[in-house]
Parts: sequence; structure tokens; C-alpha cells
Amino acid sequence: MITNTFGSSRSAALAAPIGPDEVDPHPSGRIDDVTTPGSSATSATQTPATQSPATQAPSARRKRMLTGDRPTGKLHLGHFVGSIENRVRLQHEYETFLIIADLHMLTTRNTRKDVDEVSRNARDMVLDQLAAGIDPEHATFYLQSAIPEVCELNTLFQNLVTVPRLERVPSLKDMARAAGKDEMPYGLLGYPVLQAADILCVKGDIVPVGKDNHAHVEVTREIARRFNFLYGEVFPIPELVESQITTLIGTDGQSKMSKSLGNAIMLSDDAATVRRKVIGMYTDPNRVRADIPGTVEGNPVFAYHDAFNDDPAEVADLKERYRAGRVGDVEVKDRLTSAVNRYLEPMRERRAGFERQSGLVDEIIVDGTERTRREVQVVLAEVKRAMGITGSYNQLRRKAERARKRRDA
Ligand code: TRP
Repeated sequence: MITNTFGSSRSAALAAPIGPDEVDPHPSGRIDDVTTPGSSATSATQTPATQSPATQAPSARRKRMLTGDRPTGKLHLGHFVGSIENRVRLQHEYETFLIIADLHMLTTRNTRKDVDEVSRNARDMVLDQLAAGIDPEHATFYLQSAIPEVCELNTLFQNLVTVPRLERVPSLKDMARAAGKDEMPYGLLGYPVLQAADILCVKGDIVPVGKDNHAHVEVTREIARRFNFLYGEVFPIPELVESQITTLIGTDGQSKMSKSLGNAIMLSDDAATVRRKVIGMYTDPNRVRADIPGTVEGNPVFAYHDAFNDDPAEVADLKERYRAGRVGDVEVKDRLTSAVNRYLEPMRERRAGFERQSGLVDEIIVDGTERTRREVQVVLAEVKRAMGITGSYNQLRRKAERARKRRDA
């Protein structure tokens, strides 16, 4: 049996939704503990030592990481250097939540066929991350659409950001264009708001994401500050964790690595596939013979050597000989093939281990989703209390109950 960091078991049932009158079991969520919001929207970050969850001593609340991907297919080396490497590195330091963002997928891919592929893609993506070194005992994977409370939070957050602000998020126009849409879908414009709901629904403190997502984390921070300013300190202001390599070029040397462009090396590629893809890589086009000096800068073959070759002396030697016209492309690519395969080999072994246990990945996702949902319900209840929404209904209900009693008496 696998237990998560809170010690609850994989088989634990879904907790019942928290009713409006129930006491908040979240120890840090007492809104009467919270200092009155200051007069500026930035007060949240400037007020030291309040008793808000964001600023509590680390012992009181373990810091959380939240990140993830849309379930559109298997993960590649670009995903690895963009975000997964950071997830693996930080998973033990932070309580880790890894989203399978199928609602975000719908903002550009929403046919029945797209949806029918979600469960298989989710499985593949989780397996890729387990292979990459995510420890399922420490990290919690979850399927976004199975947590409807996130949509409720999204609705509340929609009032904390303006349309022009969202129109300035560059990735959204890129996504609309890539999806062949000539007008911006409403849901796609709201993509960063839904992402803010993901991050804040578990009070995420850090968000390791690739470059296209940086602006979304900025929107999240603005929404968190705005919320705290209006309703009291509920949310931490999440920090972006950048990766060392911001964008990995594709094997075609033309644009960033992307499965749909066919220029990606997948984490699940076998050694022969890696060889084939590396041999076919774009390299310095002026170098028609091995004795012509070549350019290392901007050459994808060398970008990959820099990123994945664990032998820096070999890389330095190859670069020097390449610049001097003393090495053939075949040797440079052969060495890259070996380097990438050395890099992926431990992943292949871990993958095989997980694959042998049939249904394990599904179990990891389902248990993670149930655990995450319980966390989100606690946070949503706190949000609604802070906003006074709980109170509106309670007033109506108390009066309705009194009326019913009078009538029945
Ligand atoms: N936007 C991410 C992507 O490009 C997926 C995602 C959705 C996400 N919600 C998130 C990432 C929250 C980090 C945090 O696929």
C-alpha cells in the first residue's frame, strides 16, 4: 500500500463536501486570525509576520509545489528541461501536486475525440514523470476535471482580473494561432485564471514551469494579491521557478521542441529511435564536408550536447574540433546519441518497473485526485468564508428554518 505524505491510505474514500456550517479543519484558515487588509494592493507581500498561511513558519505548514501539463500526449526532452527536472529536484523539499490539466486542454482541443484520449494520455504522462524520477510516495498526481471545486474557484477569480490584462498575455495569442482559431475563445482568454485556480486551490507556494507559462504565474500572483487585499490574507503569493534551459530547440533546428511539429525526442523513445532522430538532426548547413569549420552557436546538435552530455570534456573537445573543421558530423552525432541514451537509460529502467505493475498508474492518479479534492474543499470553504459568501446563504437558511418552524408549530 502506498501512503502519501499526510499518511492517509490509498484506499481512503472521498470526504463529503464541506457544508457551510462546518468548522474549518484547516488549522491556518481562521479568518479571524487574519490582519485587516492594508490600503494598497501590494500589502499582502509587505505585511510581515501575519498569521496567514503564506507567512507562517515552515513548521506550521509545509510549503507546496504545484505544476503539471495538459494531457495531450507523451512528454519529451523539452518538457524535461523546462519543468520536470525541477519537479524531480524539488519534490522532497515541497509537498508536491502534479496536475493533469484536462480542462486547460479543452481551451484549444475540445472534440469528443480529444476528450476520449485524456485517460490514455494522462497515464502516459504520469508514467513519463515516474520514469523521470517523480516518487509517487511523495508527489500527488491528480486529474483537474475530477475536482469541480476548481471551477468554482475559477468563477470567483474571474472578477479579480480584467480582460485587457488577459489580452496582454502573449502565450494565449500563440495558442489560439497554433490551434487555427482566428478569434480568441472565451475559455482560452481565461486560461491563466483557471491556472490561478489550480495553483491557489492548494495554496501552492512554488510553480516550476517553462517559459510559455511564466506570464500565467504572474497573473496568478496578481489574483492572489487582489484576493488578499479584498478579503483578507488567504493565499500565499506563489513564486515562479525558472528552469536553467528556458526553451529547447527541436531536432529540426527551426522551432522549439514540440511533439506536434515532429521535432521531439520523447522520454519514452528507445535507443534505436533516439539514434535515428539524432542522425536526422539539423546541423550547420554550410558544413558540407568534415574539414569545413562549423558553427557551434545556435547549432541544435551542440545545444543538446550542452543540455544532456554528462561528459563536459568530450563536449569541449567536439566543439573545438568542429570549429576547426577537424571532426565529422557523424562522430558528433554518434556521441550525442550515446549521451542522450545514457541520459534516458535510468528512465527506461524505472519505466519498466512501473509498467510491470498493471493498474498502478491509474491507482496513483485516482488516489491523488481524491486526496487533492479533499484539500481543495478545505481551501474553497475558507475562500467562501473570507468573501462572506457562506454568510449570505446561512442568513437565508436560518430565516427559512425559523419560518418553517413557525409554520409547523
Ligand atoms: N499551463 C500548463 C501547460 O502549459 C498546464 C497547467 C495547468 C499548469 N494548470 C497549471 C501548470 C498550474 C502549472 C500550474 O500545459
